[in-house]
Amino acid sequence: MSKLWGGRFTKKTDQLVEEYTASITFDKELAEEDVQGSVAHVTMLGKQGILPADDVDTIKDGLHRVLQRIKRGDWEYAIADEDIHMNIEKALIDDVGPVGGKLHTGRSRNDQVATDMHLYLRKRVVEFVDLLHKLQSALIEQAKANIDTIIPGYTHLQRAQPILFAHHLMAYVSMFGRDAERLQDSYKRINTLPLGAGALAGTTFPIDRHFVAKQLGFDRVYENSLDAVSDRDFILEFLSHASIIMMHLSRLSEELILWSSTEFHFVELDDAFCTGSSIMPQKKNPDVPELVRGKTGRVYGNLVGLLTVLKSLPLAYNKDMQEDKEGMFDTVRTLQGALQLFAPMIATMKVNKETMRQAVNQDFSNATDIADFLVGKGLPFRQAHEVIGKTVLYCIQQGKYLLDLTLEEFKQFSPLFDDRIYSVLQPENVVNARNVYGGTATPQVTEAIARAESDLEATAAWVTEFVEKSRKSS
Ligand code: ARG
Repeated sequence: MSKLWGGRFTKKTDQLVEEYTASITFDKELAEEDVQGSVAHVTMLGKQGILPADDVDTIKDGLHRVLQRIKRGDWEYAIADEDIHMNIEKALIDDVGPVGGKLHTGRSRNDQVATDMHLYLRKRVVEFVDLLHKLQSALIEQAKANIDTIIPGYTHLQRAQPILFAHHLMAYVSMFGRDAERLQDSYKRINTLPLGAGALAGTTFPIDRHFVAKQLGFDRVYENSLDAVSDRDFILEFLSHASIIMMHLSRLSEELILWSSTEFHFVELDDAFCTGSSIMPQKKNPDVPELVRGKTGRVYGNLVGLLTVLKSLPLAYNKDMQEDKEGMFDTVRTLQGALQLFAPMIATMKVNKETMRQAVNQDFSNATDIADFLVGKGLPFRQAHEVIGKTVLYCIQQGKYLLDLTLEEFKQFSPLFDDRIYSVLQPENVVNARNVYGGTATPQVTEAIARAESDLEATAAWVTEFVEKSRKSS
């Protein structure tokens, strides 16, 4: 058989045009979703009396056989058949005969492709919420194991105030929690059915879109047929959420890379997650976080790419929109790779508590606290700041830290000092003094961990609910 749309043409398509316009090389990834959508569509055609029941059964059986063949790898797609939709339709007609040609009644590839991508991304969103959940759990486990480990907290990459290492890790748990929440929120927009919009205007057949939606587990249908076939904002939303996740992963990557340098020596990534150098035998390189940091660029690129493709397209479908797929697949793969590696890499990371402790001891990050001490004695904060600035300068000139100074030395800078400052300056006390909701004090971090764990239970329940629902609708 020639082209499924060949009737109007008198010439063969140019070979280069066929290759240039075909999407089958990449949209073959949508085979399962395409069949799932077709089965729901043809079932509805039967229920509405648009097709006789026998034809519906024949088509459904044929579609299942085609999908089995695709899954077994016993199937060769043809560039000449352009895309996954026409390749499957062609394979169906080869399998069941001309009756297969009835499948496309009341449907267009425009609403078909949009439906496939909604089905595809819906699954991915749940998968990513689950992967984020695993990463959050690994971070929480490390936080629990480091509930008494203190590190210098940084601003401007300069030591600022001591904090619990657990508190630092829990910052990422919060970020990934919002990332998961964003994905969960986008689910309701992704879970909207475009099918039934036809090419752009709807269809003359008495179809039942809500029935198709119900079969496929969609919560609602697109209100407007032009919108249904011509917007890709659900993909853009996913690409921007993916970009934000990669940005968070990239910041954590940067910290892991710094922390595993000899200069910091705060953590050691497990051998299984590092690689060596072909020339320098001593090297152990943090390639995984480096690559995650690097691949963040392509994920941003895919977002900007699709925004640009869409920005001047008149309604409704334009072939430009076929460009929505490769970036989406690439982002899905890139994000999968990063998240799958990150959870076990965090779980197996060795924390050098001793080095962290030394960094805290040889450090002025407790300076704010003696300024606060003087404020407690009635000195205005600005003056206290000045006094401590001078004290720190004295320490630097003498090669000492604040805890090394005698009370006499302190008193040179202010008569308000007394020997309670030695307790105020202890890193544990500095940390525990920040006993506000969201602060670094041990009781606050312990409660934050408990809250995060209960949020994670809710996320796990959400994932399970989807898995159940999708089992019913496929
Ligand atoms: N392969 C096409 C795409 O991905 C499917 C829709 C084709 N529709 C059309 N009118 N040519 O966008």
